[in-house]
Amino acid sequence: MIPTVDPRAQYMRHKAALDAALQRVLTGGVYVLGDCVKEFESQFATFIGVEFCVGVANGTDAISIALLSVGVRPGDEVITVSHTAVATVAAISSIGAIPVLVDIEPESGCISPSAIAAAITEKTRAVVPVHMYGQPADMVKIVEICLQHNLLIVEDCAQAHGARIGTKVVGSFGHAASFSFYPTKNLGALGDGGAIVTNSPEVAEQLRLRRQYGWRTRYISSIEGSNSRLDEIQAAVLLEKLPYVEGDNRRRREIASLYNEALKESGIEPPRLIPGRDHAMHLYVVQCDRREEFRKYLGDRGISTALHYPAPVHLQPAYARLSARAKLRVTEALYEKIVTLPMFPELDNQQISIVSDALAEWQSAS
Ligand SMILES: Cc1ncc(COP(=O)(O)O)c(C=O)c1O
Repeated sequence: MIPTVDPRAQYMRHKAALDAALQRVLTGGVYVLGDCVKEFESQFATFIGVEFCVGVANGTDAISIALLSVGVRPGDEVITVSHTAVATVAAISSIGAIPVLVDIEPESGCISPSAIAAAITEKTRAVVPVHMYGQPADMVKIVEICLQHNLLIVEDCAQAHGARIGTKVVGSFGHAASFSFYPTKNLGALGDGGAIVTNSPEVAEQLRLRRQYGWRTRYISSIEGSNSRLDEIQAAVLLEKLPYVEGDNRRRREIASLYNEALKESGIEPPRLIPGRDHAMHLYVVQCDRREEFRKYLGDRGISTALHYPAPVHLQPAYARLSARAKLRVTEALYEKIVTLPMFPELDNQQISIVSDALAEWQSAS
């Protein structure tokens, strides 16, 4: 079967460099928050085009620590989408804030600026736009609305390393932005990892305190924090892989354009490309009216598919309480149709042809 993602293929591609980097960490004797973390933070901040980066344990912690560090407090309302990984919403409620789920734009699949405006109350403190599947949300309009209403922005960039709006990389628009380095991401570690970026020295200071018990001086907590440290092994892996993200994203877009071409007469809708926005193609998700039939057809040809996700957050049992306020027509319609196809930079030309041929032949086969 051609998988939808293959982190092992990426390890094998960089095996010599990664093995050497791991050896250096293992024999170096510093395993948590050492020189590799510092160097990675510096290089990742440059990559995003911001002043500061703080490494943390995963992309979920990155959101909750970012929210606390920009000033969100328990009881504050935070507007985000239901069309996201559950992590976005889990992170908001983990700090006692109230997730308010709004609808997406049909074109981008990302948070609708007009839906944000309509959901603002006197309790609203922040917005978490998610650059879903690697598609940049409309940050220009979102920043405008948030400025008008004095709202904080934490961008969830877990799926969008290197995506751009114009020349600006996502993660550089908000007060802070969170990243995940889960192994399948566009920049993936060999375990869990995350980071938060910001241009504010005050926020950066809060981030550093909060990821390690509020310690300014070792063992003395100046504020309450928790443990969300990035370890040296993951930072060393990320340092090796960071120089390849741009090229890998170009390869992802190249594969996407081959799939798009194959889908032309199929009646299946490919991911929308929006002029002026560079999609990072983390996931290649199409919309298909006869989804189960289509998935079986691909499966019979040795092509794996997945669902990102099987249900939007407000329709999952743990978050049923959020559904009363969530009138999410576009989101709910989308979830009837989405199918994720294989997308990772190590797909070889033969695998791409197998997928493309199957897509092109879907119409005549059905
Ligand atoms: C949109 C989004 N936000 C947050 C996360 C959380 O990242 P992590 O799995 O590193 O905690 C993910 C990863 O699954 C994600 O896709």
